[in-house]
Amino acid sequence: MFSRIARTYDLLNRVLSFGQDQYWRKYAIGKLSIASPGEVIDLCGGTGDMTFQLLKQRPEDQATLTDFALPMLSIARKRMESNGSCAEVACADALQLPFLSERFDAAMCAFGIRNWRDVEVGLKEVHRLLKHEGEFVILEFLRSGNRKVEALKKLYLRNILPWMGFLASGNYRAYRYLVDSMEQFYSDEEFQAIIERNGFSISHKKRFFLGVCWCYVLKKTGERMG
Ligand SMILES: C[S@@+](CC[C@H](N)C(=O)[O-])C[C@H]1O[C@@H](n2cnc3c(N)ncnc32)[C@H](O)[C@@H]1O
Repeated sequence: MFSRIARTYDLLNRVLSFGQDQYWRKYAIGKLSIASPGEVIDLCGGTGDMTFQLLKQRPEDQATLTDFALPMLSIARKRMESNGSCAEVACADALQLPFLSERFDAAMCAFGIRNWRDVEVGLKEVHRLLKHEGEFVILEFLRSGNRKVEALKKLYLRNILPWMGFLASGNYRAYRYLVDSMEQFYSDEEFQAIIERNGFSISHKKRFFLGVCWCYVLKKTGERMG
């Protein structure tokens, strides 16, 4: 599905988030506290927005961009050639990554976790890849828990977003999926419980846009429970 909308993905991100998405990425990367230069993996990195922002804010870091949709990565590569950024690129499933354990100082995932078949399997994989006390920065859309906000969100998500997606990309189903995945994902409380039983502590958390978008900064702590 992401392969089919790759061409118009970046433009729609800017429009559908009312120009906020790049600010959220900048904020999230600004919260990384690992020493520089560090080795950082971008999971579900798509067309590379998080990786580019990382290299802008922390030019000494070594970045690895991963995603399982090749057309998204092809766009990332073209963007890399035109803006002179340099990152390793790997086409891989975030739930089963082809890297040695404890290789990375930090991981990041913007708007990808919601799509994982099994969030706990993904967190286990990130836990495996990170060094002790490594950081994991997440941006994700969560259910806000506020009934008025949810009603407003529902109005926008069901009546406006899929049609704008359709007009720009010609693919209604992809943007309808985006809506369903946002409505079905966890609330902050549910997500926090999952994070904490998978060997991470939350070192920073911030909500944007009335609690629709969240930034979490996790630290790898001990062993996972279960
Ligand atoms: C909403 S996009 C986010 C892209 C990018 N992180 C950004 O900030 O714009 C979600 C991306 O996650 C990728 N994705 C979803 N599930 C994945 C998985 N299990 N393994 C690898 N990539 C995945 C999709 O191909 C898509 O490019």
